[in-house]
Amino acid sequence: MAGQARNLKPELSFAEEVRSGLTKAGQKELPSKYLYDDVGSALFEAITHLPEYGLTRAEQRLLQRHRDEIRQAAGCPAVVTELGSGDGRKARTILESLRVCGRLTYYPIDVSAAALIRCNRELLGLGALTVVGLEGPFLEGLARAAAEREPGRPMLVLFLGSTIGNFDRPAAVRFLKSIRGLLAPGDALLLGTDLQKPAERLLAAYDDPAGVTAAFNLNLLARINRELGGDFDLRQFAHEARFCEAEQRIEMHLRSRRLQTVTVREARITVTLREGETIWTEACHKFSLRELPELAAKTNFHPEEIWVDEDWPFALNLWLAK
Ligand code: SAH
Ligand code: AVI
Repeated sequence: MAGQARNLKPELSFAEEVRSGLTKAGQKELPSKYLYDDVGSALFEAITHLPEYGLTRAEQRLLQRHRDEIRQAAGCPAVVTELGSGDGRKARTILESLRVCGRLTYYPIDVSAAALIRCNRELLGLGALTVVGLEGPFLEGLARAAAEREPGRPMLVLFLGSTIGNFDRPAAVRFLKSIRGLLAPGDALLLGTDLQKPAERLLAAYDDPAGVTAAFNLNLLARINRELGGDFDLRQFAHEARFCEAEQRIEMHLRSRRLQTVTVREARITVTLREGETIWTEACHKFSLRELPELAAKTNFHPEEIWVDEDWPFALNLWLAK
């Protein structure tokens, strides 16, 4: 059964975050969660089909291969909550396997209304399932789902697609601790983490020759124009993917092709960008196999299982709340 998504209020508005990100003294930046409006979510889905972007296929292979082990290790949960569900394709794999556990409630949490609509559609026809979409930020959504659960059977939290990689390492620790704080001992977290790999392979994945990732990145400026009365001239910006060796991360930037001034009416700002200056829009951290169990220990989880895809190095981690 699928219903309309419930709306959760974010702490700061889009206009406030654009204002603070573009008026920063040093590196200008925009939060990556704003990449996902209706157009951005459709472009992200297109990215997942690109031959150069092996991440989604690798994780989907691991989910298919290990879904019964996941069910057993997670203790046949009655509630599944997903942080950043996207179109729900990956959840479907898990939810199908969980049908033997009986009635199930699934809470997809996503800032993108378009993603939640796709997710609902993807899950139509799966019996004995209640879908409660929560439109809003991750932790607000998880708090809501946790407050509604009936005690007794465990909850499984899905955090897939290496979205954890959008946080820098200290922020990832804080975020995982916050997740843990909303769980009960024995609840499970299924965490997808992209692994370190050669820079050339990563750069091809985040700067594909068909220009889909470039469109995904540039759409953030188009979104500001549409929703906040901005006057960005998209032709005067170029998509740039950089590999930072020290941090083991890809950074996505939008590089100003010339000296220019941009106004965003609803954010009440006019900003000047130098030729070559960039706006940082996303960080995608890549993990080592060594750091993952350490991350679990630091955030009060027990690292129960780790499954690794060999074609596109990627790790699916099943952690239990201590
Ligand atoms: N889990 C899916 C989608 C990954 S894309 C997969 O693995 O393919 C990341 C998703 O998280 C998008 O749908 C985006 O809208 C959502 N998202 C990003 N930041 C968010 C935030 N802070 N709160 C809630 N949803 C967020
Ligand atoms: C966070 N995640 C869903 C993607 C990633 O690979 O970090 C987002 C993405 N950005 C560009 N391509 C894909």
